[in-house]
Amino acid sequence: MIGYVIYGRGSFNQLEEILQPNRKGDAPIIFLVDHFFEGKELAKRVPAKGKDKVIFVDVTYEPKTTYVDIVANQLKEEFGTVSGIVGIGGGSAMDLAKAVSLMMNNPGSSADYQGWDLVKKAGVYKVGIPTLSGTGAEVSRTTVLTGPTKKLGMNSDFTPFDQIVLDPELTAEAPANQRFYTGMDCYIHCIESLNGTYLNEFSKSYGDKALQLCRDVYVNKDGWDEMSDDKLMMASYAGGMSIAYSQVGVAHAVSYGLSYLLGTKHGIGNCIVFDHLEEFYPEGVKEFKYMVEKNQIDIPKNICANLTEDEFDKMIDVSMGMKPLWENALGVDWEKQMNRHRLRKLYERL
Ligand SMILES: NC(=O)c1ccc[n+]([C@@H]2O[C@H](COP(=O)([O-])OP(=O)(O)OC[C@H]3O[C@@H](n4cnc5c(N)ncnc54)[C@H](O)[C@@H]3O)[C@@H](O)[C@H]2O)c1
Ligand SMILES: [Fe+2]
Repeated sequence: MIGYVIYGRGSFNQLEEILQPNRKGDAPIIFLVDHFFEGKELAKRVPAKGKDKVIFVDVTYEPKTTYVDIVANQLKEEFGTVSGIVGIGGGSAMDLAKAVSLMMNNPGSSADYQGWDLVKKAGVYKVGIPTLSGTGAEVSRTTVLTGPTKKLGMNSDFTPFDQIVLDPELTAEAPANQRFYTGMDCYIHCIESLNGTYLNEFSKSYGDKALQLCRDVYVNKDGWDEMSDDKLMMASYAGGMSIAYSQVGVAHAVSYGLSYLLGTKHGIGNCIVFDHLEEFYPEGVKEFKYMVEKNQIDIPKNICANLTEDEFDKMIDVSMGMKPLWENALGVDWEKQMNRHRLRKLYERL
């Protein structure tokens, strides 16, 4: 679980006050800020002082283990140790912050820790501040990284942030398409969790709430206003809590393959896949299509049209490797229902 949560419009202004008691001597706080904000108003409001450093992180590609290692090694060389890492941005910048924090105190490469409970030592103090709502990265116990052989998170008890700052004002300027793709990550988390075999009362309580908030924003409301940002930020939080005690499902398992091979980003990749999952989630997909139309969003098509046999095989390998996701979606005997042939047909439709 997250140590401390603060929520509200303008709460970003309390960041300095929050960080102060966590400073260790003159060891700096490092702010990893989404490069979108370079030169923007928000970057000027980052309360850096003394030896603190603001690093604008490149999130053109979703976080790679190599990038995490470079940032962590540079910080170790320059400062020895730091007081804390603050991630400001979408899921990518927040995941980078979590991973860099862990790698400040754990030896080797972040690729060594892709898996479940491989991290053995707590990282340095870490803070997450979302500027997009939907991934749930602000609450989850993972940080999703693309490594030399797999796309897999550092899932561990040491991964969650010590503090998060949920300020819906920070999401206000996000472009409608991006906001939708990331928002749908949350919607899809809910559908996959609520329809999964791992479901339990903990996950259901949060999943039901998150789903209702997503519907308030994307089904029941016309247009976008402050209330939409407020609600979607809490939807993301609750959706993240829901999957913390269950799992995601088919859309994520399939979209991980796309992302590994084609670099398709998480939110849009999930949308591309979910659009074709009627056979698994009939009601969710129907509602999804309605939301796409109502909010006038473009979902890319035919992205697998020109792939080679080898490339299909690679995607299928990555996807079939996501065993807990398939098991949550289809049950313990999931391999009887999902095989390479069926998955190939699904990829061909994307
Ligand atoms: N750790 C987890 O539990 C978890 C869960 C789901 C997804 N993820 C990860 O999260 C990432 C996806 O995150 P995302 O969907 O939030 O997108 P993102 O962080 O990849 O950002 C997408 C784009 O939006 C820009 N952006 C960010 N905030 C903005 C703002 N306020 N206004 C305008 N542009 C803005 C970014 O610069 C980037 O170009 C993936 O790497 C995925 O693997 C992690
Ligand atoms: Fe997701």
